[in-house]
Amino acid sequence: MINPWSSSQYFDYEKLIREFGIDKPDDYFDYFMFRRKLIFGQRGLDYMEYAIKNGMEFNAMTGLMPSGHMHLGNKLTIDQIIYFQSLGAEVYIAVADLESYATRGISFEKARKIAINEYIANYISMGLKPCKIYFQSENFDTQSLAFILSNETNMNELKAIYGLNDSSSMLHVNSPIIQAADVLHTQIRHMGGPKPTIVPVGVDQDPHIRLMRDLAKRMRIYSIKPDHGKISVFIKGSDNPEGYINNAMEELSANGYECTPNYEYRAIYIKNSTEEEKIKIDMILAHLESEFNDCTFIEPSATFQKLETGLKGGKMSSSVPDSLISLNDPPADATRKIKHAVTGGRQTVEEQRKLGGNPDICPVFELYKYHSNDDKYVSKVYEECTGGVRMCGACKSEAAENISKFLQNLAEKKDESLGKMDDYLIKRSS
Ligand code: TRP
Repeated sequence: MINPWSSSQYFDYEKLIREFGIDKPDDYFDYFMFRRKLIFGQRGLDYMEYAIKNGMEFNAMTGLMPSGHMHLGNKLTIDQIIYFQSLGAEVYIAVADLESYATRGISFEKARKIAINEYIANYISMGLKPCKIYFQSENFDTQSLAFILSNETNMNELKAIYGLNDSSSMLHVNSPIIQAADVLHTQIRHMGGPKPTIVPVGVDQDPHIRLMRDLAKRMRIYSIKPDHGKISVFIKGSDNPEGYINNAMEELSANGYECTPNYEYRAIYIKNSTEEEKIKIDMILAHLESEFNDCTFIEPSATFQKLETGLKGGKMSSSVPDSLISLNDPPADATRKIKHAVTGGRQTVEEQRKLGGNPDICPVFELYKYHSNDDKYVSKVYEECTGGVRMCGACKSEAAENISKFLQNLAEKKDESLGKMDDYLIKRSS
């Protein structure tokens, strides 16, 4: 079981793929986090590929928990959001101030300050273009949608997903549903209707992703299924299946499909379809359905990043301050932390010259691998290390210099970024 509320977990990525049905990404996206397999898994990423290939609109969505400081690990999600924005995604970001109030006792006022000063200002300095950032506590759409979505799940399901029991706090029931609403509300009618939506996350958030994908599907009247090499459509939960069948048949034939209805089974068989056309047919019918169903969603997609190792080995955790670099650290602090990091180096210089270091277990090498987008440079560091010509002291200094430059740049841009907030924060709704 994956616990999104625990801060001390170790993940075996291959096992996650085997046991939780997470898929490996293909090589469609030419971005360093994909190329270097820092994104090791995904669900439903083929929807983004489809949208991009066909010039369709799509969303990218994430949330931030306004507690403490933004650190290098959080940066990876925003790097991806900025990448998808550059491909044309409409970006939405939830400030999870309801969650931080409930779980950490952080007041709304304080959460607002932290979100703006510690997180959003950095996002803007990193290159995030104007987008839609909102506070959970102020968003009437997400709260209403959460209420509606709660009817699509029950305690047995939540117990199975999260290991809840009868004494679990209702917060553990409410917060996954709010998170599902954060993501899905980007597809309600006045936000532009159903669209593929990518949610880049750390793999600890996978239980939330699985739940929101199921909730999205359960709200649909048309459910699209591969069926013996073709696609069939089933009509769910309606007292007038014939009307829905006829509407869908009309829309599908306008798109060149030949359909046979089965009124008894509330089904449509699409004769000249192939299983590969599932996404296309899903999109056609989602648009049709959104005309009469306020809650028509395309199942959201997710990418899963590996967790960056802490500088002391183990997890980056705010309870071990020297394990992580905060984006608000002065360069001198970051340099000190890097100098004291554990490495994949050998006991002695002689041994290192002879045998080479082990970058695959080295948190300092990860600073290069996760935070430089220059492939040649990163391979050079790797080869020099394994080849025994790069020593840990010099390698740490070089990494510290790179990270310091990055932090310096954020610090210099901070005021300018704070001045742009109005292009990012959406006003209270309701
Ligand atoms: N629960 C997430 C966290 O702890 C924050 C979050 C809230 C979120 N809403 C979201 C993440 C929607 C992704 C999408 O970090």
